[in-house]
Amino acid sequence: MRLIIKRDYEQMSEFAADYVINRINAHAKRCDRPFVLGLPTGSSPIGMYDRLVKAYSEGKISFRNVVTFNMDEYVGLPADHPESYHSFMNRHLFDHIDCPKENIHILDGNATDLVAECAAYERAIEGYGGIDLFVGGIGPDGHIAFNEPFSSFSSRTRIKTLTKDTRIANSRFFKDDPERVPQCALTVGVATVMDAREVLILCSGHNKARALYAAVEGPICQAWTISALQNHPRGVIVCDENATDELKVSTYRYFKDIENL
Ligand code: GLP
Repeated sequence: MRLIIKRDYEQMSEFAADYVINRINAHAKRCDRPFVLGLPTGSSPIGMYDRLVKAYSEGKISFRNVVTFNMDEYVGLPADHPESYHSFMNRHLFDHIDCPKENIHILDGNATDLVAECAAYERAIEGYGGIDLFVGGIGPDGHIAFNEPFSSFSSRTRIKTLTKDTRIANSRFFKDDPERVPQCALTVGVATVMDAREVLILCSGHNKARALYAAVEGPICQAWTISALQNHPRGVIVCDENATDELKVSTYRYFKDIENL
């Protein structure tokens, strides 16, 4: 696993945006099939999205031949609700770039058959030959997408009940009332993320320090689903200084050293 430690949120976002841009552009030179990109929501990726939109407006990247799959969506929240992940993605990215609408995939949390919706999502990913790069965030409890603590590492796209911790953490988007946060979500599984050819995780702020510690130094265990990344052949975490507060000094120095070689 690579751990890239940046000074602050801005630098972390810049690294992540450059990483995505480089991958998409390199892929476009190599082959005609679309680049398949997994995408997250939350406050962590907003700075990266701002930079991707800017790069697009400056002609440094096109999303014409990019297919996207979002990580998750709330169940029962109308797609046009301002806090739905559909709205979030349109607001921060899709309304401002040239990605064809038919290339954009976001789970439908209002589908009449949620189980079928999840199965179809997995099939669609498979149909495109898998995900080239999955970008993600981490919850304070170490969840990836909405794979709450103790989710199986072999889990696939499915319905999950959200923990109290997550509903409290996400209540900041719902008038600070955890009761307004939907109880369930559809989410890609841990295995869905880990099947991607590359995984890039963004981790910012002191409230993610315990999760980063679990991701990097902790044992691989289902209590912290992000720890599955330790087994990924091409897993990268980019974080800011504040998120490193729980790392051992030796771990911090090791990653700083090797990334500066
Ligand atoms: C939600 C999302 C996760 C995201 C997490 C962290 O729970 N389902 O995919 O990683 O929030 O969000 P933030 O970046 O806002 O801290």
